[in-house]
Amino acid sequence: MSKSVLVLGGDGYCGWPIALSLSEAGHDVTIIDNLSRRRIDDALGYRPLLPIASPGERCGIWKSVSDRTIGFHHIDIAQDYDRLRAVLADLQPSAIVHLAAQRSAPYSVSSPSARRYTVTNNLGVTHALLVALVDLGLDSHLIHLGSIGVLGYTTAGLELPEGKVAATIHGADGRCAEMNILYPGKPVSIYHMSKAMDQVLFEQYARDEGVRITDLNQGIVWGSSTMTTERHPELRTRLDVDSIYGTVVNRFLVQAATGQNISVYGTGGQTRGFIHLRDVIRCVELVLNSEARGSERFRLINQITETLSIRELAQKVGALTGAPIEYRENPRQEPEENEFHVAHMTLQDLGLRPTLFADQLAQEAETMRRACTASMAV
Ligand SMILES: NC(=O)c1ccc[n+]([C@@H]2O[C@H](COP(=O)([O-])OP(=O)(O)OC[C@H]3O[C@@H](n4cnc5c(N)ncnc54)[C@H](O)[C@@H]3O)[C@@H](O)[C@H]2O)c1
Repeated sequence: MSKSVLVLGGDGYCGWPIALSLSEAGHDVTIIDNLSRRRIDDALGYRPLLPIASPGERCGIWKSVSDRTIGFHHIDIAQDYDRLRAVLADLQPSAIVHLAAQRSAPYSVSSPSARRYTVTNNLGVTHALLVALVDLGLDSHLIHLGSIGVLGYTTAGLELPEGKVAATIHGADGRCAEMNILYPGKPVSIYHMSKAMDQVLFEQYARDEGVRITDLNQGIVWGSSTMTTERHPELRTRLDVDSIYGTVVNRFLVQAATGQNISVYGTGGQTRGFIHLRDVIRCVELVLNSEARGSERFRLINQITETLSIRELAQKVGALTGAPIEYRENPRQEPEENEFHVAHMTLQDLGLRPTLFADQLAQEAETMRRACTASMAV
């Protein structure tokens, strides 16, 4: 069934292909973005691997190849409540996919102003949205792209849960109470902390205001394209390969494709959860079609498909490409080695067929090699 869907942060790496796929599936899609990622690139002197078209150009090209319209509003959601409210009042969306955040962990701890910006912006966006939904009395399904890093990367000695956890709280008076609580994770950066704080907001607004929310604890995304972005060169999504915004798989593949060493921070024993960009899109579609209902106002789902240490990942890329691995001093504050066992079957139960490294890494290495060649010609 066709829906009106608002994509917040739809100019970004995941947001743009999500917007395209939802539009292709027949939904009426509108993007809100303040283009802050493009401005941060300018400030840091970084560029995506290949240039990306402006939002207006991209939407125009999409119209020409698909005959479908994607709307675009340039709004800072954290700062301009009135314009956000006006768009929501006008569209009355059945679903909102919320990706609008400063999403780099290294950036979030890079300076006092980056710390303040990450928290003010990320919580400002989430709270403005929740306030507007309540203000307008809208029953839109809010689908938020959160981070699996909210659970923390310390070795917990157990499979980390999906959803809330049953806990026995021991009171000071000796009595106990059984409660269902958010997992008390240890976010590893200010960025991850902002995602943990989002969950506190979600819990409150779902419980007290009845907002329907699905929060996707997403792993590190890899991959450069999707079926829809491949329909025209100018529909490509941004591909960050720098050390601040480049996610680790994409960065390793580009290092290998450009004759550099694969740079592993520390021992490479950091174990993380991963998901391919195409699966991100599939997950959003699956969640869109399986709304939180009844008493289940706030769903928490772990959106990863496999876990791997950075060392294992580097070895896989090295074996595929022949690039040497170089171990460097770790500039990040994180445990050098950790286990990471995370429950993540909900999306597969809903119908996700995971894209695994074993299936897709070789093809991705080739795509990245071609993108690097094209990038040198730009
Ligand atoms: N990329 C990953 O590996 C990854 C992993 C886990 C979770 N996530 C989450 O998924 C979401 C999307 O990630 P991405 O990689 O596409 O990030 P991205 O930086 O490419 O896109 C985020 C978009 O949000 C926009 N934005 C930020 N603040 C805004 C504001 N105040 N108002 C309007 N727009 C604003 C930015 O301009 C940008 O286009 C983020 O919430 C991120 O935390 C991403």
